[in-house]
Amino acid sequence: MDAAAGPPRENCAKGVPGAGDPFAGADMPRDGRRLELEYLCVDSFLRDVVDARALATAFELGLIERLSEGGRSTPDDLTRRVGADGRGLRLLLDLLAANGVVEERDGGIELSAGFRRALEYRDLLEAKLEFAHIAALDMLDGFTHLVRSPDQFVRESRIYRLFCYERAFDSGPGCQELTRRWVRITTALTRYEAEVCIGRHDCSRYRRMLDIGGNSGQFALEMCRRNPAIRATVLDLPLVCEIGEAHVRHAPEADRITFVKGNALTDTLPTGFDLVTFKSMLHDWPAGEMKRLMVQAARSLEPGGTLLIFERGPLEIRGGTLPYSMLPFLLFAHAFRSPDVYRDQMEETGFRDIAIQRIDLETPFFLVTGNRGP
Ligand SMILES: C[S@@+](CC[C@H](N)C(=O)[O-])C[C@H]1O[C@@H](n2cnc3c(N)ncnc32)[C@H](O)[C@@H]1O
Repeated sequence: MDAAAGPPRENCAKGVPGAGDPFAGADMPRDGRRLELEYLCVDSFLRDVVDARALATAFELGLIERLSEGGRSTPDDLTRRVGADGRGLRLLLDLLAANGVVEERDGGIELSAGFRRALEYRDLLEAKLEFAHIAALDMLDGFTHLVRSPDQFVRESRIYRLFCYERAFDSGPGCQELTRRWVRITTALTRYEAEVCIGRHDCSRYRRMLDIGGNSGQFALEMCRRNPAIRATVLDLPLVCEIGEAHVRHAPEADRITFVKGNALTDTLPTGFDLVTFKSMLHDWPAGEMKRLMVQAARSLEPGGTLLIFERGPLEIRGGTLPYSMLPFLLFAHAFRSPDVYRDQMEETGFRDIAIQRIDLETPFFLVTGNRGP
């Protein structure tokens, strides 16, 4: 099948070389010439379950690797090299061509220019494939539960079991592996979301940042990378901190990032910060705990310090169908709050000069900032 004959797919915006190493690539500075929202191009290859499954199989078989490193190839050669059945590989190539991943001309197969650009964000592509795959299984057999009884869905669904924070208090090998799995997903998302957030708020005046629920340290790392005067403390659950320490260890900014193992709800948190951040953290918690976390943040701030919240807002499903890559966010939909909720809580906690910015990524995000006052 010749992909050139098919309907043109939406491609990535202008891209530049420098692919990231999945998860382990924390130390790899991203090219400043990249457009801040360009990373969203990965979604154009994850529009439905067939497109996404075919792409995941192409990664699993090493087909994408082979085509990106070896360039143009033939179906026979690929069949041999990836160890596939000839008819199976033909089917896969047709699906990849229909999705704009590969192009076939004069019997030769190569990656399309659009997909090569998306491959610059390979960590994100693979994380989104994995995240959506888990969500799809829940969607197929649990969506009625979600509609009838969200609490029951939370107890039973794979996606919520994946993000099981209790395991992050235990250092057994099973817990490590499972915690690593979701940390890899949050890290990949945050690597690109952080850039957008940091670009919308002047952080150059800050010196000491505390990122509560800061996960692998990716948000802190992006902050330090762009603001040489900042030193960051990442507070998270014990196992997550251990994974995070290994994650940032080789980054040039590593000596400016400290991990503190703790429970942000119950522990006395470190103090003396001029910036405290919650990035995609507060939505995990019901109103009472959210309030508690904000009070904790206020105590950690010096007078005049800033609280910064960067969170997804309510999903807006208008007219069109939802792409497959959005399934995980659909399953968390009831957790995403209006920014007014965060603003009201900040006001109640004593914050002033509260500002809200809306930023449209694959879903709406809100950047809410407030000053602790004297
Ligand atoms: C949805 S993840 C977001 C992670 C990160 N901020 C990001 O945007 O990539 C929530 C984070 O909160 C952490 N967390 C959960 N409960 C916590 C607690 N009681 N104290 C500190 N951190 C906690 C989790 O381990 C996880 O890293």
